[in-house]
Amino acid sequence: MNSGTFRLEVLPEGEWARTVATWLAVRVRERPMLRVCLPTGDTPIPVYTELVAAERRGDVSLASATVIQLDEWVGLPPDDPARCDARIRGDLIDRLAAPPAFVPIEVDGPDPEAAAALHDAAASGLDLVVLGLGMNGHVGFNEPGSRPDDTTRLVRLAVSSREAATAKYGAGSTPTAGITVGLARLLEAGECWLLVTGERKAQILRRALDEPEGPDCPASYLRRHPRLTVFADEAAAARLRPR
Ligand code: PGA
Repeated sequence: MNSGTFRLEVLPEGEWARTVATWLAVRVRERPMLRVCLPTGDTPIPVYTELVAAERRGDVSLASATVIQLDEWVGLPPDDPARCDARIRGDLIDRLAAPPAFVPIEVDGPDPEAAAALHDAAASGLDLVVLGLGMNGHVGFNEPGSRPDDTTRLVRLAVSSREAATAKYGAGSTPTAGITVGLARLLEAGECWLLVTGERKAQILRRALDEPEGPDCPASYLRRHPRLTVFADEAAAARLRPR
């Protein structure tokens, strides 16, 4: 185990998104066929905007990369704008002139367990995983109670995650289940980034980084990753112990 040796990048709010996008562009340039899991949610949106701008300037092309979906609600109709596939397409993929390949989680078939097993294969051996941090410490839909050896699977969603679907995006119905790439796959990826912004995340970021790892905060297990980088803005980092 390699707990506690992560890299912490604390950035002013005005530089955070551009810095993360620049790092992402560097990774894509180093490895054009990058296989990467990217998150949805509010946190990464400014990063995606910067990445789209970088592509327009000719600084990067994701055309040879593959984006593997991180998580998805089960039970929302394919055209529901709250779907994670709709978010990642709308926030990034469809905005790029030369989009990457996209591997969705096939949630619309009759057998979500089989879909999860299929996606576990797609999410094996990733080059990079980029994650947001849930207010309850989740990463993807690895909700509290998740374990570091969990593979990609069907999960019951925490109430707070369910509320996010309806409150934030106006999901047509409130899903009770999801499929997520599991912590085992996140921990075996070549590199892992955790993106965290805003004062409201300061407490849970402190829990994730500065307190003993445990299933109440799945993000705390990310410290086992040998190449974890945490990109926090100053507000999110405000409660971390001095380093
Ligand atoms: P947010 O969501 O980026 O919208 O805060 C993060 C998450 O819940 O994983």
